[in-house]
Amino acid sequence: MDKQAFLNHVMTAAPVVPVVIVNDVAQAVSMSRALVAGGLPAIEITLRTPNAIDCIKAVADEVEGAIPGAGTVLSAEHMAAVEKAGAKFMVSPGTAPKLIDAALDCSVPLLPGTATASEMMALGEKGFTHVKFFPAEAAGGADYLKSIASPLPQFRFCPTGGVSMKNAGSYLSLPNVLCVGGSWVAPANLVEEGDWAGIEALAAEASRLTRAA
Ligand code: 3PG
Repeated sequence: MDKQAFLNHVMTAAPVVPVVIVNDVAQAVSMSRALVAGGLPAIEITLRTPNAIDCIKAVADEVEGAIPGAGTVLSAEHMAAVEKAGAKFMVSPGTAPKLIDAALDCSVPLLPGTATASEMMALGEKGFTHVKFFPAEAAGGADYLKSIASPLPQFRFCPTGGVSMKNAGSYLSLPNVLCVGGSWVAPANLVEEGDWAGIEALAAEASRLTRAA
């Protein structure tokens, strides 16, 4: 399966990709089990904590059914580390040229962040069709993706940033949106409290969202 086809598989596994910030390995494992149990198998673990790489490795090794991804991937060094840890996909906030070149050399597919037609076109020249739209609400929201569908029909999006249960439906009703990303399904207070049943319930609610694509 080529990288864009694999990203398509990741993005259609569920309507929501949880975006998580976690530092404790045991919490990462329990939280991921809850997300998978709630119906959200693809999980973006951001590289924003000192132990994020260990969290990705633990989820990859120990959580049956999870599709662990690495988020906030900003460099070739990050890519090498998350590839070794067992990440199945990577997500970046933007499309820095060196990062994109490194992604072409990495075995793990990258879902790069985009917010403009020019960024999408530049990625299209490198073979990308599956991208993140970030920061979705601040960058124009569902109206922006609706506008881009006719001139750039080849792209499939995961809008992320400011997405919640309130507005996820407006994105998921668009034919060029395969899933949305968001942190609301694994809020920091529930992680700190170890409220895994609460996280499973939020995931289950999110997994029932329907999409057009
Ligand atoms: C992030 O940058 O943390 C992600 O885009 C998630 O954004 P959110 O917290 O608005 O869901």
